[in-house]
Amino acid sequence: MAQAQKTGEPVRIRFSHVVAENTPKGQTALRFKALLEERTQGRMRVDIYPNAQLYSDRDEMEAMQLGAVEILAPSLSKFGRLGFPEFELFDLPFLFSTQADVRRITEGGLGQALLQRLQRQHMVGLGFLDNGFKHMSANRPLLEPADYLGLRMRVQSSRTIARQMRALGARPVDLPFSETRRALGTGVVDGTENPVSNFWTQHMHEVQSDLTLTGHGFIGYAIVIHAPFWRNLSELQRQHMTSAMKEALAWGNSVAAGQNEQALHALRASGSTRIHELTPGQHLRLRTAVQPAWDDLARRIGQNWLDSVRQALNSP
Ligand code: LMR
Repeated sequence: MAQAQKTGEPVRIRFSHVVAENTPKGQTALRFKALLEERTQGRMRVDIYPNAQLYSDRDEMEAMQLGAVEILAPSLSKFGRLGFPEFELFDLPFLFSTQADVRRITEGGLGQALLQRLQRQHMVGLGFLDNGFKHMSANRPLLEPADYLGLRMRVQSSRTIARQMRALGARPVDLPFSETRRALGTGVVDGTENPVSNFWTQHMHEVQSDLTLTGHGFIGYAIVIHAPFWRNLSELQRQHMTSAMKEALAWGNSVAAGQNEQALHALRASGSTRIHELTPGQHLRLRTAVQPAWDDLARRIGQNWLDSVRQALNSP
């Protein structure tokens, strides 16, 4: 039985994340809090720390291993660095065409196998959450592979994303999300890739004159819980958490695409950033240029993983 239950104190759950509240992840976290607190009549309490208030994406995992936070929702791109390179499958450029494609992985056997692996590092994976498709920004349009030449592009800590940038002739610079806007503003980096919801809510449009709608990659999240905390809960408390999270994720996944559309709408209305679309030819050249990122990941994790992904995407 959880310690807190014995003393009558509510169980306190700290949920730290790095994005703004009006993003798919921020809103889903709030939904989870509301559901869990209501169903347990406040006996389980969720304190949310958005915008890297508590920990940046570089140190949040370590904080969880030390028991300083109970729930995180890191992007899938951040698990490779922790010893789970298979999660970089989600970073493969041009792998997914639609959010329904993503669902074939996250809701199938492959997604479950990935979550199971997290136990090795004392994490319980409760599910997946969408943000959306990433687009490229800089202070110039990025229409052809040659446009990337020599640019310093901020990337998440994923070797696959770094390889993608190098394949385009750019220099990847791995920075925490919370430092990205400032790094763009001061010229430490020239550009980056984001779903529009993150680009807009971090005010990156104030420091990037051009956003090219490449839709080349996907950002989603895994919800992870500190395993010792989880084990210390009662069966009923675990059930409450699982069902509140399941419901919050279903809701979050149903509104994420719309939130990105709204952000794009707001960005267009602001008039601050020029927005470019790729022609089919530009799209094809970009797709061809980033192929080395696929070859590199296949070498590192084994072609079998990539074959399983293809199979899941092609299944009826
Ligand atoms: C990033 O670092 O760009 C993203 O992972 C931030 C996030 O959590 O959406």
